[in-house]
Amino acid sequence: MIHPSQGYSTGFDLNDPDTQRDPYPSYRWLREHAPVYRIPGAPMWVLSRHEDISRVLRDHRTFSSNMGIDIPIMSLVMKDPPDHERLRKSLGRAFTPRQIQHLAPRIEMIAETLAAEMDERSEFISAFADPLPITVICEMLGVPTEQRAAMKQWSRDALLASFAAKGFGTPEQLARATRGLEALLAYLDQVIDIHQAQPRDNLISALIAVQREGLLSRDEVRYFCCLLLIAGHETTGNLLGSGMAILAENTELWTRLKTQPEQIPGFVEETVRTRPPLQRIVRRTTCAVEIAGVQLPADALLMLLPGSANRDAGQWSAPDEFALDRDHGGHLGFGAGIHYCLGAPLARLEGRIAFEVLLRRFRTIRLDPERPSMPITGFASGSLGWETLPLCLERG
Ligand code: HEM
Repeated sequence: MIHPSQGYSTGFDLNDPDTQRDPYPSYRWLREHAPVYRIPGAPMWVLSRHEDISRVLRDHRTFSSNMGIDIPIMSLVMKDPPDHERLRKSLGRAFTPRQIQHLAPRIEMIAETLAAEMDERSEFISAFADPLPITVICEMLGVPTEQRAAMKQWSRDALLASFAAKGFGTPEQLARATRGLEALLAYLDQVIDIHQAQPRDNLISALIAVQREGLLSRDEVRYFCCLLLIAGHETTGNLLGSGMAILAENTELWTRLKTQPEQIPGFVEETVRTRPPLQRIVRRTTCAVEIAGVQLPADALLMLLPGSANRDAGQWSAPDEFALDRDHGGHLGFGAGIHYCLGAPLARLEGRIAFEVLLRRFRTIRLDPERPSMPITGFASGSLGWETLPLCLERG
């Protein structure tokens, strides 16, 4: 048995921009050489194998989501039962798969409008991948379209604030992010007041109704709206960007999906398996525990890598290959266990509709050879996706 203090000290640096651009060679190295890798100098271990990550996500008693710090906007994500159960049940009443299905016609209209506005040399992230999910979530929350750009910046700041509070990032970044978060919360207060006076048929009114029954506090409604804004747009935007980059490099796949649009849900799922937008999930051990032969103490922090789990050859054959027809069951791109992504049905719906519209509207797409694409790196790079993705498009 390996003792944690022995750890491993070389071969993997999460902060290296090259690793962030393409983490998959490092993930392979980790799975093969150090499946329970100790980050030098930190009480944090990185898990990379499917079996271990799946076990941790499904055992919330031994592996807690509570980091011992209070980040109200992350309250759902960072709570254990019974608090988590109460919140998730109350929120689940306002955010049901049936209500999400009702959004389909509106999502299609938004996607059609955005696609119609794209020209033959569009930058896909700013023209489509970002505005689609932010518009959908703003409409669900009753936030007027004019505030879309501010929402994007505020929600990015709020995300950074939560990272910074977990110890990532500098004090300056924390201060900037906190200012953004405060602006967002103040704005959401106004939106809640308006809906309290005049309920509408939207998510925020449904949440206020749950609050009236005494199941949620006003603060919990506010923080949940904030969480939805953060969770609901950056991840889905990155899914759309990654899917488009895959298609732009694979003409055969583009043609196949054009003629077989019923394969689009499988395409979306395989995109989440091979390039999960959320690349890091954190848990804390509640007691001493052994994982893959490594003894870990209580209060050890675990960084789980769903992107690595999803390419584990122990789980899938030819795991690096993008295969539409494979059985995707068991991928961890949306997590697993009690914290399984609440928005997965919405992300899948947006993904399906977005690619149906794009495949219908455009005859060919390819990466623009004159303008390089820019992957996301840096402070917030727990995300995998594209900052910019310039394309050449042909209508028809
Ligand atoms: C492709 C898009 C998405 C991906 C890859 C994704 C991924 C994830 C993952 C991995 C988790 C689990 C985190 C953990 O276990 O700690 C999670 C949780 C969550 N996601 Fe998503 N997500 C996506 C889209 C969305 C959308 C569109 C929404 C809502 C509008 C959303 C709302 C949430 C919420 C509220 C949680 C917390 C659930 C809980 O703690 O019980 N997500 N997501």
